[in-house]
Amino acid sequence: MGVSWFRCLVLSFILMCGLLPEVPADAEEASDGLSTTQEAIWLTDIPATEELTKTAEVAIIGFFQDLEIPIVSTFRSMAQQFRDIAFAISNSSEVLTHYNITGNSICLFRQVDKEQLHLDDKDIESLDASKLSRFIQMHSLRWVTEYSPLIATGLFNTRVQTHLLLMMNKASPEYEESMQRYREAAKLFQGQILFVLVDSGRGENRKVISYFQLKESQLPALAIYESVDDKWDTLPITEVTVEKVQGFCDGFLKGTLLRDHNGEEDTDAGKEEL
Ligand SMILES: *[C@@H]1O[C@H](CO)[C@@H](O)[C@H](O)[C@H]1NC(C)=O
Ligand SMILES: *[C@@H]1O[C@H](CO)[C@@H](O)[C@H](O)[C@H]1NC(C)=O
Repeated sequence: MGVSWFRCLVLSFILMCGLLPEVPADAEEASDGLSTTQEAIWLTDIPATEELTKTAEVAIIGFFQDLEIPIVSTFRSMAQQFRDIAFAISNSSEVLTHYNITGNSICLFRQVDKEQLHLDDKDIESLDASKLSRFIQMHSLRWVTEYSPLIATGLFNTRVQTHLLLMMNKASPEYEESMQRYREAAKLFQGQILFVLVDSGRGENRKVISYFQLKESQLPALAIYESVDDKWDTLPITEVTVEKVQGFCDGFLKGTLLRDHNGEEDTDAGKEEL
């Protein structure tokens, strides 16, 4: 049996960790005193809070009983750093009670698997900007999450055991339209399959592509992976359509396309497009 997709990712994660610059520190310096493009919004009632958690792809809410604790300003500065994530703060006792929060808590809500992640009082005590930033980067899974070693850990920390990867060059002319359709398909599998984009234009992603025994010439391609049994399948595609993606996923979930690649060397070259 080969190295699983999981181990492949975790390995590269560990390797990258040593090499990664302290992203948060850099970003903080850059945003220090600069524009105020995104501020955390104030949530004063339950309907507004529920609206945000149900509509934002990823929302992070600081529920603070005490606004004087140091993490509050750190939390606010994060809003600048992650401009595509909805940041909010609430100190309303009504809201905190509704979310069963007795102290202070930072919660991440995401649509893709309807999951909520909490950092509670104990976690917050030892939290600094760099840890909070890492937490956000790791767990901000989208309808389509772009693969990176850091996000890989987040992907495998979910209850969703099936991952679909689209391996495609972001620089290709079909990219925008393909992404739109891929994202549309992702919504059909909420909580069932996590959709991932692997930019084949990035050299460091080559090992993910070769894990699935795909060649450059076969891309763009889909690869679907199920982590419990380490089962996977691939499908080179010339055009990404909702129907093709859906058909491939449905087939895999039903087991009709499922093949066991353990010890298999075949590169699947003869497989036709759907
Ligand atoms: C929430 O914070 C605001 C602004 O600091 C303050 O005026 C208000 O009293 C706080 N509300 C509660 C319930 O602590
Ligand atoms: C708060 O806790 C109660 C009882 O455990 C639970 O039924 C409810 O869903 C929780 N509220 C939220 C918003 O999670």
